[in-house]
Amino acid sequence: MLRIITCWAAIAWTANAPLSIEEVEVDPPKAGEVRIKILSSGLCGTDLHILEGRNKVPFPVILGHEGAGIVESIGEDVTSVKPGDKVLPLPLPQCRECSSCLNPTGNFCLEENILTPTGLMSDGTSRFTCKGKRIYHLFGTSTFTEYTVVREIALAKVDASAPVDQVCILSCEVPTGFGAVFNTAKVSPGSTCVVFGLGGIGSAIVLACKASGASRIIGVDINEEKFPRAEALGVTDCLNPQRLEKPVQQVVVEMTGLGVDFAFEAVGLTDTMVAALESCRVSSGVCVVVGVAPTHSQLSFDPALLLPGRTVKGGTMGEFKTRDFIPQLVTDYLQKKFNIDPLITHKMPFEKINQAFELLQNGNCIRCVVKLGGDESGP
Ligand code: APR
Ligand code: ZN
Ligand code: ZN
Repeated sequence: MLRIITCWAAIAWTANAPLSIEEVEVDPPKAGEVRIKILSSGLCGTDLHILEGRNKVPFPVILGHEGAGIVESIGEDVTSVKPGDKVLPLPLPQCRECSSCLNPTGNFCLEENILTPTGLMSDGTSRFTCKGKRIYHLFGTSTFTEYTVVREIALAKVDASAPVDQVCILSCEVPTGFGAVFNTAKVSPGSTCVVFGLGGIGSAIVLACKASGASRIIGVDINEEKFPRAEALGVTDCLNPQRLEKPVQQVVVEMTGLGVDFAFEAVGLTDTMVAALESCRVSSGVCVVVGVAPTHSQLSFDPALLLPGRTVKGGTMGEFKTRDFIPQLVTDYLQKKFNIDPLITHKMPFEKINQAFELLQNGNCIRCVVKLGGDESGP
């Protein structure tokens, strides 16, 4: 009989307030669920958007969706992982049974709608309580806690030798950026690209554009501190829209003649989404929306932009089938097929998670990873 675990977790009681590290009770996993000891977790722009209240989820909540850890215990019917396995919880599951999972293209599994989060497990209940109150989950992951419960269909079992404080970003930041380039846009050698937002996701996009052989990668950000690192990753030209006399999209079009072949939005604002679309060349330009706009926002643009053959596309987790792809991504990283190390600029102990959020909010980091207290020796 599995018992309740009492451990430390960072609780967001309300939006726009610091997280509070408190003792929580974590229920045993139910059928099809797995309880995980979380060892490391990245802070993503989406966690920040939620904490700032611009993207709505039920509160109080345990945030975090870029974690890595060890299976502590499994519920009934779980067959693909066992206690002691190293795993990454996935914000987008792959059930392998729904119509999206059975379709060879696309990845938007119908088992968890991350766009309208309920904060509850599939049976409509939560596995977390604190001071007698129910605490909500985030995207079925909730990684800012020493222990969490995740569905088996939302777990990538990864190589046991993978360093958790590095590969945790392979559960959101890296596949989101890489897949936007490789799957959604399909960037071709010699092409021109523009990337709006040079934070964590934008940096992963830049890496992938460079790996795809793009001849020119224009980076756009209002924070010029992002420019030197972006250039080191492959950006050829940096633009700060606030320093330009014309709209940035006009400058991009002038720089490239007709506009870019591929534009990426990794900010999460509708204005930058429209600017990205307007930066695309006629006849073949593709605009990929990666950023998450505030809840209930509307995108408004002149439909005549589409008539000459521009395309607007979007995707979640880079359109990768998450459970199939992410273990392979981890192995490829271990085999040094690509380098994600420049994407992580800071590491901090879990107790300093509020400082980590300040770094992200103030634009002082690309990715900050928090390390929880536990070790890999066992559940
Ligand atoms: N124009 C250009 N860049 C901007 C603007 C703007 N108006 N506003 C903010 N930025 C830049 C920030 O300076 C920062 O460098 O966008 C970047 C956002 O990066 P992060 O905060 O690191 O967020 P990230 O994790 O990369 O997520 C980016 O993708 O997954 C979504 O929800 C996420 O919408 C968010 C986006
Ligand atoms: Zn994320
Ligand atoms: Zn599915």
